[in-house]
Amino acid sequence: MSYLKHFKRAAAVGAVALAAVSLQPGTAGAAPAGDGGNHTKVVGGTRAQQGEFPFMVRLSMGCGGALYAKDIVLTAAHCVDGSGPDTSVTATAGVVDLKDPKAVKVKSTEILQAPGYNGKGKDWALIKLAKPIKNIPTLKIAESDKFNNGDFTIAGWGADKEGGQQQRYLLKAQVPFVDDATCGKAYGTDLTPGDEICAGKLDTGGVDTCQGDSGGPMFRKDDGGRWIQVGIVSWGEGCARPGKPGVYTEVSAFAADIKKGAGRLGG
Ligand code: ARG
Repeated sequence: MSYLKHFKRAAAVGAVALAAVSLQPGTAGAAPAGDGGNHTKVVGGTRAQQGEFPFMVRLSMGCGGALYAKDIVLTAAHCVDGSGPDTSVTATAGVVDLKDPKAVKVKSTEILQAPGYNGKGKDWALIKLAKPIKNIPTLKIAESDKFNNGDFTIAGWGADKEGGQQQRYLLKAQVPFVDDATCGKAYGTDLTPGDEICAGKLDTGGVDTCQGDSGGPMFRKDDGGRWIQVGIVSWGEGCARPGKPGVYTEVSAFAADIKKGAGRLGG
């Protein structure tokens, strides 16, 4: 229901986000900061290493995104207010620590929200940047459904549990694909199967994206071992609840539109 979906951005404004995962009571914050990452900090999520997911972008309205072109960020439609000239967004790239002085910060010039977006499906948008970000690789998007299966990586600076805080350091986690029929059982007609792809640990929950991760990529390796984006963080009922997978924009369904939109933005 839309009460769930349109919640998205509210909690995000102001801080840093992470891969949404439930925090294990009693262990929160117990792990030493700066251990660089292989130790589990939150249930299902760990710290990403500097440079591990170089295409990850934090957006100032409290969303995630991925570098689609040197000067274009792919994010969620629900993270933006519409289309047109817009200098209000700052993209932060090149760092896992949002307070790292080496962060690259670039402002937006124009936003393209998915044509026809009305809050159901079509949850993608492009943000044109004032200048190209050099030396940071882009994330290729899936153009067919070939990679809409298996295990996916999610990452973000969003809340670390339902109602939790935005994060300073980028977190990552892995979630398995959930097919439309199964996801439809969880969400009924709120799911738009042609537009959306679900992922999460159905039985146990515990690993998920969450508020503030929206707009960020869900990705995996392609046949050549390169990262490829299959999803955009969109919505879910709560975060990491058993039986309630995360719902992501199905990137392959919009690949042609995204390409066209980027062309229009001069990308
Ligand atoms: N809508 C949220 C945002 O704006 C993302 C929610 C994802 N929820 C989930 N359970 N996977 O940040």
